Amino acid sequence: MSEIFLSMIVSKSFSGVKVLDDVEFNIRRGEIHSLCGENGSGKSTLVKIISGVYQPDSGARIEIDGASVRHLSSIESIHHGIQVIYQDLALFPTLSVAENIAIGQILARGKSLVRKETMRALATRAVNHIGVKLPLDEPVGGLSMADQQLVAICRAFMSDVNLLIMDEPTTALTRKEVNALLNVIKDLQRNGTASLFISHKLDEIFDIAERVTILRDGCKIGTYNPSELDTKRLSFLMTGKNLVYEAVSPVVKKDVPLLQVDGLSKRGNFRDIEFSLERGEVLGITGLLGSGRTELALALFGLNPADTGSIRIEGQKIVIDSVGTAMKSGISYVPENRLLQGLVLRQSVGKNFLLTVHRRLTGRFGLRDSRRQRAEAEKWIHDFEVKTPSIDSVIETLSGGNQQRVVLAKWIATNPKILILDSPTVGIDIAAKSSIYATIHHLASRGMGIILISDEVNELMHTCNRILVMQRGHIKAEFSGDGLTVQDVSSAIVEDNGGDCR
Ligand SMILES: Nc1ncnc2c1ncn2[C@@H]1O[C@H](COP(=O)(O)OP(=O)(O)OP(=O)(O)O)[C@@H](O)[C@H]1O
Ligand SMILES: [Mg+2]
Repeated sequence: MSEIFLSMIVSKSFSGVKVLDDVEFNIRRGEIHSLCGENGSGKSTLVKIISGVYQPDSGARIEIDGASVRHLSSIESIHHGIQVIYQDLALFPTLSVAENIAIGQILARGKSLVRKETMRALATRAVNHIGVKLPLDEPVGGLSMADQQLVAICRAFMSDVNLLIMDEPTTALTRKEVNALLNVIKDLQRNGTASLFISHKLDEIFDIAERVTILRDGCKIGTYNPSELDTKRLSFLMTGKNLVYEAVSPVVKKDVPLLQVDGLSKRGNFRDIEFSLERGEVLGITGLLGSGRTELALALFGLNPADTGSIRIEGQKIVIDSVGTAMKSGISYVPENRLLQGLVLRQSVGKNFLLTVHRRLTGRFGLRDSRRQRAEAEKWIHDFEVKTPSIDSVIETLSGGNQQRVVLAKWIATNPKILILDSPTVGIDIAAKSSIYATIHHLASRGMGIILISDEVNELMHTCNRILVMQRGHIKAEFSGDGLTVQDVSSAIVEDNGGDCR
């Protein structure tokens, strides 16, 4: 048996535009291989060729198990033991965990009526094989993202798997859940399953990958051993640039802060929240999932109004009981899960962009000026370096990170006084991350107050004037100033299993 499980040389064009250019790529049996590159560099396209979803341009060479494969269809790919978990997971939310896991097998057997016990037995076997615990009879829709991910993995393992491909599996997971997933991948490796793993979180790649292949603009830069790389070199190889981070500008404290929150509480979510935000300030909020940070953001945006406490904007007390009031008071919110945040996937980039900005443009002029709207959309798409042939392209055809940029652009374009960004750089490549940090600094320098919620302490350190750490619904610590280290902040974000005191 050859040591190489799969090798290929492929190109791929869409409507004459080459997005993969003679990419030579191979995967060894049982290895953990990571694919890196900026948004739109061709990672997902390469994965879709391996899984038979896309056919490569003519002249491609693909070998699996040492034998040449002339045409790799989805079915054939599965026959070779290749399974892919896409970012949207493709689960059925109303079906139970067991049904979701067993469904592929059942469909493959062509049976329409299957006894519940059979299904449960099949699912139990998969769950035990992976070594995870899942509530087999619960509907999948009610599970956390992490558990849904595990359901998708268990489903993949209903048949023999030689290669498990995961396209950004960790974007919606917290650090603890990511560690659990990485452990599952390592366990699978012990059973001989190779993994191909795409992630924009470089620390995960260093944690787990044995080889790293880097793509840039559809070309392969090389395949490396992680010991040859560090974050700086990896980002240089991905982008061709040395990234520099601007220093955070100090804020000038005024008599009346832009935002003042006092004694804000919501039963079961958060309690006695007190903080202020100045004009031009970037305030970071971090904490584990369930610490209440997203619930707090939702309260400020009127999606989860608080029970008690006060919110003042420029000294004026405001009751935020709906999104309408929040937006009228100058608050915008970019939610954390880009797949859920209202992109209309079959519509064009321009239409998606205008969904939010529209009201402002029509409001000010009283009528819809479509030329003006178009020009505005084009300007923002350009400023955010969204890689798209035009604003008329269907948003679904953009790479994931570029869709994310459209979402960010459209909220920032509403020109709020206070912008709340919940995990804005998840799924975004390192060069785009640094351009988003620069945008945040730029907006702050114009006087906008920004609340940045993030899991990544590094990111907060690059971007924020102050960092609040939340735990079990209250603010546990505040950090600022020179000499602050990642370790200082990280050590405040610790698990604690004490009772819920919300
Ligand atoms: N079906 C399609 N039709 C037209 N263009 C496409 C299609 N699928 C992908 N592309 C283009 O191919 C290029 C590579 O996209 P791909 O999704 O492979 O990038 P990626 O490396 O996965 O990026 P990300 O990190 O943002 O997910 C992009 O410019 C994208 O717009
Ligand atoms: Mg992708």
